[in-house]
Amino acid sequence: MPEIRVFSAKNYDRVGFSEANERHGHDLVFLDARLEPATVELAGGAPAVCVFVNDVVSAPVLEALAAAGTRCVALRCAGYNNVDLAAAERLGLTVVHVPAYSPNAVAEHTLALILALNRRIHRAYNRVRDGNFALDGLVGVDLAGKTVGVVGTGRIGAIVARLLWHLRCHVLAVDPYHDQHLLDLGVEYVDIDRALAESDIITLNCPLTPETRHLIDADAVRRMRRGAMLVNTGRGALVDTSAVIDGLKSGQIGSVALDVYEEEADLFFVDRSDEILDDDVFARLLTFHNVLITAHQAFLTREALAAIAETTLANVTSVLDGSDPVNVVQPG
Ligand code: NAI
Repeated sequence: MPEIRVFSAKNYDRVGFSEANERHGHDLVFLDARLEPATVELAGGAPAVCVFVNDVVSAPVLEALAAAGTRCVALRCAGYNNVDLAAAERLGLTVVHVPAYSPNAVAEHTLALILALNRRIHRAYNRVRDGNFALDGLVGVDLAGKTVGVVGTGRIGAIVARLLWHLRCHVLAVDPYHDQHLLDLGVEYVDIDRALAESDIITLNCPLTPETRHLIDADAVRRMRRGAMLVNTGRGALVDTSAVIDGLKSGQIGSVALDVYEEEADLFFVDRSDEILDDDVFARLLTFHNVLITAHQAFLTREALAAIAETTLANVTSVLDGSDPVNVVQPG
């Protein structure tokens, strides 16, 4: 029974993986610790380790894993920007991921953020609970007829674009690959400059790569339509947070919804309500009434968790069997 050490394991991981494992029969060892240089010894030479978005899968970590006998790094997520893929290849470690577990989950959360932020539901919720029934400051806009720029129309972005199309938005898509179904709906593929200039809402649904890091920087903020909403459910480093804060302060950006944050690794997935927040940039973001933040929960549906566990365990089996490894991530 091959052992898998599951790092950064939360209760919902334990439930989802234990259920799926009834069909796979791996020996699962759940660890609270995040994988990083200081914790890599906890892998204990298990043939496979399972990691999530903020585990540190750097060259030194991979070297320690390989030296102890680990052969497979199984990401229980789609993105793999936290893995040094070249080092993994050099060390003969196979990296697998879950390319698509429920693109609907992330797309629907993206839409939820847009709808909630536009109609100031986060403010209304608190006001009503506090006996404040005033409506000042809660004015939204009709989404019908508005222009939305969807950056990245892969599995998730294509669903975001379709949902917005159903709301009768004019959808501008930015992606080197053009989705025929979206074209058939009348979605227009444009370059990023036009999307920034014309969109009332910009949503980022592309992966984090060297090319997309700080895609929304100070220059991009300047080129956005004044007062536009910025939504990021992709990866935190797609935006330069300081530039976004400057944009909010000047009114150039009208509102911001984030499910991801560049420095989230030291913040998210943990109850820190008793701690003093020492990230001043994040603290500043929290002061804006027109900023809505969720802590990387776009993936968090029952269907997605079940699919993540099922695919991850099947991925590990395929690698350790030496049969035909599936969902392998290749460098470059
Ligand atoms: P995908 O690989 O199906 O689609 C990504 C699309 O982005 C592709 O069509 C690609 O051509 C496009 N793209 C790449 N570079 C681009 C650029 N410079 N400009 C415009 N488009 C570009 O990936 P999927 O499944 O749609 O996921 C997208 C991202 O969403 C993931 O990489 C991950 O970072 C993020 N994600 C976030 C989650 C969350 O819980 N917040 C959960 C799952 C994924």
